Amino acid sequence: MAYELISTETRGRVALVTLNRPKQMNALNPQLMQELGQALYAFDADDAIGAIVITGNDKAFAAGADIGAMKDWNFIDVYRADYITRDWEHIRRIRKPVIAAVAGYALGGGNELALMCDIVIAAENAKFGQPEINLGVLPGAGGTQRLPRAVGKAKAMDMCLTARMMDAAEAEKAGLVSRVVPLEKLLDEALAVAAKIAAYSLPAVMMVKESINAAYEMPLSEGVHFERRLFHAAFALADQKEGMAAFVDKRKPEFKNK
Ligand code: HXC
Repeated sequence: MAYELISTETRGRVALVTLNRPKQMNALNPQLMQELGQALYAFDADDAIGAIVITGNDKAFAAGADIGAMKDWNFIDVYRADYITRDWEHIRRIRKPVIAAVAGYALGGGNELALMCDIVIAAENAKFGQPEINLGVLPGAGGTQRLPRAVGKAKAMDMCLTARMMDAAEAEKAGLVSRVVPLEKLLDEALAVAAKIAAYSLPAVMMVKESINAAYEMPLSEGVHFERRLFHAAFALADQKEGMAAFVDKRKPEFKNK
């Protein structure tokens, strides 16, 4: 598949998607988001892939939705086009783990894209923010909802109401980011995390992702019930037999992803 604003490659069972509008700080326009959606769907459907990494460049993961593209749109334009919903929500439908490897700016829609990923790994130079208030608007791709769930109300209000950016250290402390690494190690670290995940049983991995995501949608009792049903279902997997037999036999499991 030939893409213009992203590039894709595979490394073993890991797919790497690189956002590629460096001159615009990877500003996310509809075409880029459509290409990202197509790439993610293709990798999600590919049995040879177990995890996906999304990254940008050293200066920017993505500096937000493309302001130049949006500036003249009216209500009817965005409403009719179902802006954001149409081109941005693909990522929520991806069932394999998606890791954001963030260096430089992750602002506005860029931060929201990272928040839609399952794990965020940051370089030491990463900066996270929701500066839409500077533009006379508010976050529109889930920032006011996912950010408080990630970092709490106080920091989410602070970031969205003042446009203050968080550096990588603060983002890790606040729970937005799972690990911070030196810039030159970012991609290796993200690919290694993805490769580790991709070596496990794919259906078990998908069940973990589905169950953790359910925690954000359900009351605790329903979430635990949902987890229990998936846990019971896991006993239908050949990989459950293999994983537990391998432990008892003191050998490495050979998962078949079924
Ligand atoms: C369009 C952008 C852009 C964006 C940067 N550029 N961010 N173009 N949309 N979001 C462009 C600049 O216009 C410039 O183009 C080039 O990228 C380099 O940016 P500079 O500003 O010259 O670089 P620098 O001084 O290093 O500042 C970097 C920056 C700043 C701090 C990231 O560019 C900035 O504040 N960008 C806007 C961030 C933002 O407001 N994001 C939220 C967008 S709204 P030229 O042609 O001059 O070289 C949003 C809404 C979300 O995301 C709603 C749902 C998605």
